[in-house]
Amino acid sequence: MGFPIVRNRRLRGSASLRNMVRETTVTVHDLIYPIFVTYGTGVKEEISSMPGVYHLSLDLLEQELQEIAALGIQSILLFGVPEHKDAQGSSAFDTNGIVQQATRLIKKQQPQIVVVADTCLCQFTDHGHCGVVHFDESKQRADVLNDPSLELLVQTAVSQAEAGADIIAPSNMMDGFVYAIRQGLDEAGFENIPIMSYSVKFASAFYGPFREAAHSAPQFGDRKTYQMDPANGREALREAEADVVEGADFLMVKPALAYMDLIRQLRDQFDLPLVAYNVSAEYSMVKAAALQGWIDERAIVMEMMIGFKRAGADLIITYFAKDIAQWLRE
Ligand code: PBG
Repeated sequence: MGFPIVRNRRLRGSASLRNMVRETTVTVHDLIYPIFVTYGTGVKEEISSMPGVYHLSLDLLEQELQEIAALGIQSILLFGVPEHKDAQGSSAFDTNGIVQQATRLIKKQQPQIVVVADTCLCQFTDHGHCGVVHFDESKQRADVLNDPSLELLVQTAVSQAEAGADIIAPSNMMDGFVYAIRQGLDEAGFENIPIMSYSVKFASAFYGPFREAAHSAPQFGDRKTYQMDPANGREALREAEADVVEGADFLMVKPALAYMDLIRQLRDQFDLPLVAYNVSAEYSMVKAAALQGWIDERAIVMEMMIGFKRAGADLIITYFAKDIAQWLRE
């Protein structure tokens, strides 16, 4: 027998052969598209660090939804940019809050679209933190209180479900948030509404453009007392385990690109559907390089998506969803 003994190139010889042995695919059903809704009329304001991503007022939502539906995208992740902020983030759980209004509208216009409601307070609080802030007497030290934050988060989740949200996606990283929300939803009669937990969410610089988009940067301090340290992989498994025990229906890893090891580990250790969040700076970096003509945007984006799927993700939240849906048709 000649050398080499193993010829892996045999299966790469033509496009058809490569199609036959391809292990991983991306389909439009894998995608969840984030949308930012805001007040006003006729508002379609591009987020400067995220070309192609907009703040949309409710009157422009219908056209956007038609486009999304025509592309075959089944699911959106809804973020609200409110008019009014206060210490409690009360417009997060207002029956007439921006997310609740948008949800009702979407469920009327395109009832088949799965509305995933991001359940957090940071866009709605004047201090920009994801929970209730307590200052010590000197006003020098501020803590984000865990259990009082849970109460507000539960109220937010229930009001989103009342508005018609199909999935609740808590992202504030308080301990016990899945259990608290599960109980709250069940008590309110929403035992069939699933929870997509941001299980493993790191304190990441990759959220920078989102915070500009959602006007949700913390006014002081950072999120390191509740979001995870990027250095910790074993702790990520403990976070995910807790969410499984508390009744999560989906697990999530966020951000995605720099955390592919954890997508794989969660896939290997847990059986729940797994979501990768391809976050704002992952989008902005690609867009910036593409606008310079330095990279092939389409090829890079598809390679990233395949990578998330190969690592073990079932679903991908991505600002590229509309582009990908279009490319998958061509
Ligand atoms: C709210 C939230 C954030 C993101 C999603 N939900 C921001 C944050 O935690 O600071 C980031 C999404 C992105 O960067 O695309 N807590």
